[in-house]
Amino acid sequence: MPQSITIATPTDFHLHIRDGEILKTVLPHSANEYGSALIMPNLKPPVTSLALAKKYKMEILQALPVDTTFKPLMSLYFTQNLNGPAVREAYASDTVTAVKLYPAGATTNSDSGVSYYDGIEGTLETMAELGMPLLVHGEVTDQAVDIFDREVRFIEGILEPIRKRVPTLKVVMEHITTKEAVQYVLEANDNLGATITAHHLLLNRNAIFQGGIHPHHYCLPILKRETHREALVNAAVSGNKKFFLGTDSAPHPQGAKESACGCAGIYTAFSSLPLYTEVFEKKNALDKLEGFASFHGADFYGIPRNEGSVTLVKEETIIPDSFTFGEDVVVPFRSGGSVAWKVVG
Ligand code: DOR
Ligand code: ZN
Repeated sequence: MPQSITIATPTDFHLHIRDGEILKTVLPHSANEYGSALIMPNLKPPVTSLALAKKYKMEILQALPVDTTFKPLMSLYFTQNLNGPAVREAYASDTVTAVKLYPAGATTNSDSGVSYYDGIEGTLETMAELGMPLLVHGEVTDQAVDIFDREVRFIEGILEPIRKRVPTLKVVMEHITTKEAVQYVLEANDNLGATITAHHLLLNRNAIFQGGIHPHHYCLPILKRETHREALVNAAVSGNKKFFLGTDSAPHPQGAKESACGCAGIYTAFSSLPLYTEVFEKKNALDKLEGFASFHGADFYGIPRNEGSVTLVKEETIIPDSFTFGEDVVVPFRSGGSVAWKVVG
């Protein structure tokens, strides 16, 4: 087994870094491991316009550590009012790379998302014409649908009809969690890709109840059974170019997680690349890590791959208990534990 691995500088194609003071804590963790990241727009209020995306990008650039070349790729939040001219202007601006669609009520700060799909085709057609990717949080919000079935129901009831109506639209199914999603992506044409998180590769749903309720393992889409985790691992390490890295690292203050109504999100950014490396090593597939982390996503989006490289060495690294996070702290994935790899440059 190699004790070190060098790959082209990766991109995180799904990242929450929030804004204000807390941005300053979490951004360096991502900038230390990645050359760029697709930044999620679910701020309060959400990033619904080109002007807001420009403002948010500026805030990120100003919060970056000096001497970093980290590039934030911005996304727009799909509201019911988003129209063709607005996405055309946003895409032409060089600021906005994609549009993120949250079904209203599906997850954190998704209230301004989409609640009915008739009437959005015009916008989707413009995006298809531009080659601008639609990123979907693929879960239905119907409270009668079991939380573990929401992804599959989204594929059947919403995604497939959208893709039939606008077949040339590029779509990324974000943070897929089921073997049905893997199968759907595999069977689709090249306009459909998917991101996979480190936590969905490493944990099954037992982790939510490990020795009692474990709020730091609660995320959306929720962790699934072991058979699904195995399907995700096989997809990630397969070398198939439709699957690529997107951490969905989603920091929340400790107080908001460890509460009677703990919110969804797992904070992996501090060690996400080492965590992915662990998964690939276990499957004897370290040679496939570079494609997944550094090439497939950029190629799918049709953007340049990052320059340079990063090296990881096999060295057990302790993960801190927490990091300062505004007036609270954020508890990282595997806090107080360790990860088998370390980024050294
Ligand atoms: O667990 C999650 N947290 N899933 C999401 O879709 C959103 C995210 C967040 O923003 O906290
Ligand atoms: Zn997310």
